[in-house]
Amino acid sequence: MHPAAAPLHGSVPVPGDKSIAHRAILLASLATGVSRVEGGSMGEDNLSTLAALRAMGVRVTEEDGGALILDGAGLHGLVAPPGPLDCGNSGTTMRLLSGVLAAQRFQTTLIGDASLSRRPMSRVANPLRLRGAHIEGTADARRIGEITAPLYVGPLPSPHVLASLEYELPVASAQVKSALLLSGLYADGPTYVHEPIVSRDHTERMLSALGVPIRAVGSMVELDAVAWSGSLPAFSIRVPGDLSAAAFLIVAAQIVPSSRVDVRRVGLNPTRTGILDVIRAMGGQIDAVPIGDELGEPVGDVHAAASSLIGGRIGGEIVPRAIDEIPIACALAARARGETTIFDAAELRVKESDRLAAMARVLRAFGVPCDEREDGLVIQGVPDRPLTAADVTSAGDHRVAMTAVVLGLLGDSPSRVRDVACIATSFPRFVGTLRALGARIDVIEGEGAA
Ligand code: S3P
Repeated sequence: MHPAAAPLHGSVPVPGDKSIAHRAILLASLATGVSRVEGGSMGEDNLSTLAALRAMGVRVTEEDGGALILDGAGLHGLVAPPGPLDCGNSGTTMRLLSGVLAAQRFQTTLIGDASLSRRPMSRVANPLRLRGAHIEGTADARRIGEITAPLYVGPLPSPHVLASLEYELPVASAQVKSALLLSGLYADGPTYVHEPIVSRDHTERMLSALGVPIRAVGSMVELDAVAWSGSLPAFSIRVPGDLSAAAFLIVAAQIVPSSRVDVRRVGLNPTRTGILDVIRAMGGQIDAVPIGDELGEPVGDVHAAASSLIGGRIGGEIVPRAIDEIPIACALAARARGETTIFDAAELRVKESDRLAAMARVLRAFGVPCDEREDGLVIQGVPDRPLTAADVTSAGDHRVAMTAVVLGLLGDSPSRVRDVACIATSFPRFVGTLRALGARIDVIEGEGAA
């Protein structure tokens, strides 16, 4: 991509929230009746969830505008798939499905791409086993006691039923929390999940909106399916825009001089808005204007404008609320005056890639001094001169790729980012959206580079 010759300017939409879309597709599949899911990101991650449910008998059609019409199988209506379920690059697909599949009378095999096949799965398998589920993985040669995909889930032989569960998560994780809550829909007793810090609560909000008895008290969630009808009603949702996708545009607007960018109709769930707090704390100009809500999820417009930034500290409770935005927060830090310290973020090492190592590598390539710590990064901002143009690879991680593209807008000459096909997992129109805002980006077909 080319150094920005002009401010970024405009008002753009972003794809539907990936996390909310996963849950909407899954719960519509388990509902009784016909549901409508409009505006999902329909990046490859969401398509993995959709394909898995189709393979288990859920009938799905697509309207002309792209909305999905799902004919729910009911809570007990899924059927054995003809082969392994391929979760692609999507940890959310694999972990959320595990919770539902743990209660089925048939066995399933869950597989993923090379990145997903390295990610830790005992965090979801262990608590599911505690409530009687049968789930096996592949011993991880690099981490003792850890398992990875392929996962073999079920069957839960009749007449056994999943038992009640009280579980304290060692690390905040919405994926694991959600898997346990979803398995709780099938249990013969309550599910209590306690997290050290509250992670995104989309599952809780959607289940509650659909009438499931669920309540959160601080960082404890309780679901008791015993007192429940046992049936999820069909529903209709217009998935709010994905703040995690918007974050790349919002941060680009902060750091490309004189930019003004508006992102329309994005999710503003407080368990997701950590990046907005980080931007504000570092001196950024940002305004989030609520416009309504959608199945329990707050929605609004975000207005962002270029700012002069100061280094900050990013750690503690903000980390789960900005877990997917730490890579792009590194781009803010790269242009801030002074030092930015990211800490309490060791979870980033087990995302789609080791994002701490990946971001240290990318920042240094752009001439930004960076120290890598066990649980974070210390970044020395370079606010007064262009960054050094770089030629970097994303190593297959969509958020690393998009961050590198944004950094490239500040280079002293054109930069190159390799291995960018992965961007389609979450934000298929990323390059087009940046171009609409005025950026100049050439995509080199066949090379997967931008
Ligand atoms: C997600 C939860 C987060 C996040 C991921 C999506 C979800 O992972 O990083 O991109 O939709 O539940 P963890 O729950 O493992 O932290």
